[in-house]
Amino acid sequence: MVSAAQAPIGIFDSGIGGLTVAHAIKQALPHERLIYFGDTAHLPYGDKSVAAVQAYAIKITDLLIGRGCKVIVIACNTASSVANELLKEYTASRAKVINVVDPMVEKVASLAAGRVGVIGTKGTIASGIYRQRLGRANPSLQIRELATPLLVPMIEEGFIHNRVSADIIDLYLANEALQAIDHLVLGCTHYPLIKEEINNYYRGQVVIHDSSVVTAGYLQRYLAQNNLLNEGPEQGTDHFYVSDFTADFERSARHFFGDTLRLEEYKLWE
Ligand code: DGL
Repeated sequence: MVSAAQAPIGIFDSGIGGLTVAHAIKQALPHERLIYFGDTAHLPYGDKSVAAVQAYAIKITDLLIGRGCKVIVIACNTASSVANELLKEYTASRAKVINVVDPMVEKVASLAAGRVGVIGTKGTIASGIYRQRLGRANPSLQIRELATPLLVPMIEEGFIHNRVSADIIDLYLANEALQAIDHLVLGCTHYPLIKEEINNYYRGQVVIHDSSVVTAGYLQRYLAQNNLLNEGPEQGTDHFYVSDFTADFERSARHFFGDTLRLEEYKLWE
């Protein structure tokens, strides 16, 4: 009989972005068993309707609850922006839902003052979640937002550290909306994969915040406060699912989790 603390942690995103969060969680909590779902069949989430993203999120949550997860981490800003409340209601007492926006807002709102840029998918920026939540938590912050929809397909295609990525990143960051910022929130879990390039653009003059480490810390606190930390031996291997198998995803997942990684295809609607 597996105790609540020994149950796995479910994590999902549209693709490889959530692996940045999963990896930070594994670093912080090596005894926890992870079940990761990359919804590659529906990638990108950023330009889908709210109803579509909510439907995908519910289907994935069903799978993760069925696998006995104690916590479900929405490792995607787009789904966190539009499906968090719904998932909380849906899971009720069956699992705790943690999203990537709350930990980021908590961290950035604790900054004294300044101009904060936020980049994310069309869905995240259209939801206004960072502007509203940061503005409420710290009214002295000036929030500047920009949707940067080319970044997710670019990253999924492995266009990182090349001429194309440099041009796209330059064009977006030079946008009027992001001028004279002191901080930049990476409001998409794919973006930590280009953090170095973003940092190079700013020559270290802008503080860049990504949600992977901050979400892992938030999860760790939640588990500790609720006696849900798995302190025993490691509970078997992590599991990785995708809704559409691709060799690219497998390569990226192995980059983060090693060559022994098991990747299975799981169709959400079959
Ligand atoms: N990585 C996700 C996010 O944080 C999803 C991006 C996408 O699929 O468009 O928003």
